[in-house]
Amino acid sequence: MIKLHDKYFKPFISAKEIDAAIARLVDEISNDLGDEIPVFVGILNGSFMVVSDFVKKYPKPCEVTFIKLASYEGVKSTEDIQRLIGLTQDLSGRTVVILEDIIDSGNTLAEVHRIFKNENVKTLKIATLFYKPEAYKKDFKLHYVGIEIPNKFIVGYGLDYDGLGRDIPEVYQIKETQHMTNLVLFGPPGAGKGTQAEFLKEKYQLVHISTGDVFRFNIKNETALGMLAKSYMDKGELVPDQITIDMLEAEVEKNADAHGFIFDGFPRTDAQAEALDKLMDSKDSQINAMVALEVDDEVLVERLLKRGKTSGRADDADESIIRNRITEYYKKTAILKDYYSTQNKYFGVDGVGSIGEITVRLSSVIDNL
Ligand code: IMP
Ligand code: MG
Repeated sequence: MIKLHDKYFKPFISAKEIDAAIARLVDEISNDLGDEIPVFVGILNGSFMVVSDFVKKYPKPCEVTFIKLASYEGVKSTEDIQRLIGLTQDLSGRTVVILEDIIDSGNTLAEVHRIFKNENVKTLKIATLFYKPEAYKKDFKLHYVGIEIPNKFIVGYGLDYDGLGRDIPEVYQIKETQHMTNLVLFGPPGAGKGTQAEFLKEKYQLVHISTGDVFRFNIKNETALGMLAKSYMDKGELVPDQITIDMLEAEVEKNADAHGFIFDGFPRTDAQAEALDKLMDSKDSQINAMVALEVDDEVLVERLLKRGKTSGRADDADESIIRNRITEYYKKTAILKDYYSTQNKYFGVDGVGSIGEITVRLSSVIDNL
């Protein structure tokens, strides 16, 4: 992912795919034109890379020239095309091929046709590396198209966002969602995970998705996914990951304008972590960090025994049960610690101290993501 000015972009078309598309355009055009010496006309600024790579591959003699037009402001095409540099040579009787980086609304192309109306060229062909069919509003024929793309703003390979990005050798596509901070929160029993989740929610305006709560909600409200999950639970079977993922997806979609999510209770396995990565990717987002509160076992045992005295929770009263729960926790978390560590996304946070001290430690991790 890259950031240009205020916007985020994700990888979309590789340099290799671009190269292959250019090679196809060269083949088609050189076959069609035969031994004619064409004049390739690039439309500046965006087309400098296409023109350069195209003519390097062109197998026969050709001429190259440029005209300079400008229509884009920010990420929107405007009707008002400025003619900054026009034709500087006589092209009458010549075979002309316009080489465009991208055709979007077609406004620029309309201006190109106006420029050539009185030029008396022999033929005028239009070639473009990228074409957004959903955005195109004109009737001019496009003779050669490299790659059709959806109607989303792209940068790279000559294309810019307010001046930046032209130099990038591959193409990036704008991200639909704003930048989110998505955390997977872990902590052994007694570490104060619930308290810290509340704090993170408030401070960073995150939505807390506790898998346990999501399950209970779906089952209680008898949603289709809840009923499906229950059918496995009633048989004493594990609920398949896909059902959990579908429930989480529904939660993510319900909160489409959240600044991010805290996942709590999920993932538990490598497969689930991968499924969660896929889900976030489909939302143009990602898991930024696994944050795990780290508290020494003896401190946890002490805390839980103390809590057991007042809460009356049976599983907090027995030391061997407590130790067992802690061991279980580390067994399960180790897998995920490895998973996120290899992506440099694991952050252990010292969970011993006052609530305030721990929130300060958590904030410094998140502020540096
Ligand atoms: P049109 O006039 O709407 O067809 O747009 C053509 C011009 O707008 C191109 O030559 C580019 O300079 C610019 N443009 C269109 N779409 C994009 C895009 O997705 N990214 C960057 N520039 C674009
Ligand atoms: Mg252009």
